[in-house]
Amino acid sequence: MSNVRLHDKTFRPFIEYDKIEEAIDRVAARINEDYQGSKDAPVLLCVLNGSILFTAELMKRLTFKCEIVCIKLTSYVGIKSTGEVRDVIGMTGSVEGKRVIIVEDIVDSGRTIENLVRIMEANGATETKICTMLMKPGCYKLDKKLDYVAMEIPDDFIVGFGLDYDGLGRNIKDIYVLDSDMKYYILFGPPGAGKGTQAAGMAERFNLCHISTGDLLRGEMAKGSELGLKAKALIEAGELVPDEIVEGMIENKFDTVKDVSGFLLDGFPRTIAQAEALDRMLAKKGESVSGVVSLMIPDEMIKERIKHRAAIEGRADDASDETISNRIKTYHDKTEPLVDYYKKAGAYNEIDGTGTIDEVRDRIALLMERI
Ligand code: IMP
Ligand code: MG
Repeated sequence: MSNVRLHDKTFRPFIEYDKIEEAIDRVAARINEDYQGSKDAPVLLCVLNGSILFTAELMKRLTFKCEIVCIKLTSYVGIKSTGEVRDVIGMTGSVEGKRVIIVEDIVDSGRTIENLVRIMEANGATETKICTMLMKPGCYKLDKKLDYVAMEIPDDFIVGFGLDYDGLGRNIKDIYVLDSDMKYYILFGPPGAGKGTQAAGMAERFNLCHISTGDLLRGEMAKGSELGLKAKALIEAGELVPDEIVEGMIENKFDTVKDVSGFLLDGFPRTIAQAEALDRMLAKKGESVSGVVSLMIPDEMIKERIKHRAAIEGRADDASDETISNRIKTYHDKTEPLVDYYKKAGAYNEIDGTGTIDEVRDRIALLMERI
């Protein structure tokens, strides 16, 4: 199964047809058990258009006498619930004096079924139960418990098996989930490779939030946030800021920064443990690292560049050969293992970091456009 494109959005495979069928088998078996031997012919209320496929699949599994009535309501425009449910067409039959099973494709906030239950009562139904193929527990706002739920899913927007994105996708037999367009880039490389120099320009060019862990720490300390105070205490005690603090700051950025097309991480992750933590944070959001851009420069050039920078910034300590050699060693020991980590993930890309700032910038931009 590969991604599908509908209008302006991309969707990735989420639930395979076989799994959907199995879930429908299970829910149909429960309904059969509850309604077996009943004297009346309960009404299945098919909620158009989304519920067409599910109702058909469910109905052919039901072994008791039943009728079908269709209704059309809508509360969705594009990929967002408007909060307002409109009755688009009336019902195709009567529910007067009958038991009704509302058959929905998906229950999100629950506003639609709340309205449907009211409409059923107003039309003289003697009992109303709810059966839905999918439900998003994270979005559901009602106290009312749903009677039959075939599958529960996270709060993401999905299409397929009757569900649409602005009219398209209903005919796809598997279920697909909206693939986020957010990008998570890592700018990677030894000290002096030019990460900081290039990151700001790239962030602007691609509308990314540039996350430099050093800047973040200073920012949190200046704000006097809880995190900042913790970090400050540690730094003042001459200790290293532990991974959890740095990770907490980054996760906080991911969760709070809006209106960007993605994030550009600079100076993080530095260790395998941090890379694993980053994967966990992104997985929680249904995301993953989009690509690593690794700036390659030879050790000799690292030394030259750091010395040059130290001279400009007047930091004589950084100019000592021994300190620089140490930083290079730490990089090779601790950070370089990440190359293999990201190669395995299929996310690793190398860029020649030598040459002028503009030359390197153009190489990075070209690569990032492809990722
Ligand atoms: P509710 O009224 O918020 O429960 O929304 C229910 C209706 O919104 C469903 O009948 C669908 O038409 C639509 N809907 C909710 N979530 C999705 C989705 O992920 N994909 C497509 N349509 C959805
Ligand atoms: Mg619907």
